[in-house]
Amino acid sequence: MRCVLLSEILDLRDHLSSVIDQLGDITFVDHQEGYTANDVQLAVAWHPPGNAFDNYPNLKAVCSIGAGADSILACPSLRDDIDVVRVVDPAQAQMMSGFVLWNVIWHQRRFATYLAQQRDRIWQRPSQRDAKDVPVGILGYGEIGRRVAHDLRMLGFPVSVWSRSEKSTPQGISEFHGPAGLAAMLPETEVLVNLLPLTPETQGILNGALFKRMRHGGYLIHVGRGEHMVEKDVLLALDNGQLSGASLDVFPSEPLDPHHPFWSHPGIIVTPHDACDVSMDAIKATVDATADALRNGRRPSQTVDRVRGY
Ligand SMILES: NC(=O)c1ccc[n+]([C@@H]2O[C@H](COP(=O)([O-])OP(=O)(O)OC[C@H]3O[C@@H](n4cnc5c(N)ncnc54)[C@H](OP(=O)(O)O)[C@@H]3O)[C@@H](O)[C@H]2O)c1
Repeated sequence: MRCVLLSEILDLRDHLSSVIDQLGDITFVDHQEGYTANDVQLAVAWHPPGNAFDNYPNLKAVCSIGAGADSILACPSLRDDIDVVRVVDPAQAQMMSGFVLWNVIWHQRRFATYLAQQRDRIWQRPSQRDAKDVPVGILGYGEIGRRVAHDLRMLGFPVSVWSRSEKSTPQGISEFHGPAGLAAMLPETEVLVNLLPLTPETQGILNGALFKRMRHGGYLIHVGRGEHMVEKDVLLALDNGQLSGASLDVFPSEPLDPHHPFWSHPGIIVTPHDACDVSMDAIKATVDATADALRNGRRPSQTVDRVRGY
């Protein structure tokens, strides 16, 4: 089976060298602008070039190399008959959970205050807050959101989760769904964790109107996709005290411009889209299983619902 590598921001042959070495029964070919290849059935993609899919009339499936497939779904040449497959990796969810917990505790235990005090050589104990007094709301209760909610609950934080469709949740995790559910959850939310996929409905969801509905002085942990966030609204909410801080891992334009105000804002922690990596083993398993499904005339698993957009 021939599989084409499609990315305009990443050298996938280099990035996936260990995966390519291990999948000896797949021939990986590089995308060539304007060159039509009828024998390519499979693609691996991350931010593919806009017209990339035009060159592969017999392509049946495309694998993302991450949990999100938004950059593939946004590609104008993607045809309706191509299955889009994403990576589902429990190890990635665990890594994301560690990242979110670290940031929730950063806020709860006032680490920014300790750092400022150390800079000025001040020996002073800020008042401590019990986890039970810091309610956390999670946007997105999918593969990753479920793990994060579980782990926060184990540490004693009151946890609420919000998704599109109604869910049953374990005891101690409050469930909300749909627009009315979001309106009901936000006033009780001090720390807001964004773990939504990027779709037309979720784009720009982290905006001034939403921050106003949270507990005053709340904290934002944004690990979804950059375009969920209205950047000027985040700055405004920090400057007027609506938010007391924000940990931002993803940005509408990456890498973040060196002159961007986020870098130097005292209330913001910037990380370079690094909340959690997906393992090469998980990518390998996804590509392998997708190739196997195509060889056997089956539909691949872990496909994105093209109507929902995730
Ligand atoms: N920063 C990083 O390093 C990093 C790494 C990995 C992933 N991510 C981000 O994390 C996201 C989530 O990954 P995942 O694997 O957990 O995704 P997932 O399993 O597809 O779960 C998505 C969740 O979002 C909910 N949702 C989608 N649209 C919604 C809407 N309009 N209103 C309310 N809820 C909505 C879904 O609701 P239903 O359950 O009702 O369908 C589901 O609970 C990825 O798409 C990506 O953006 C970031």
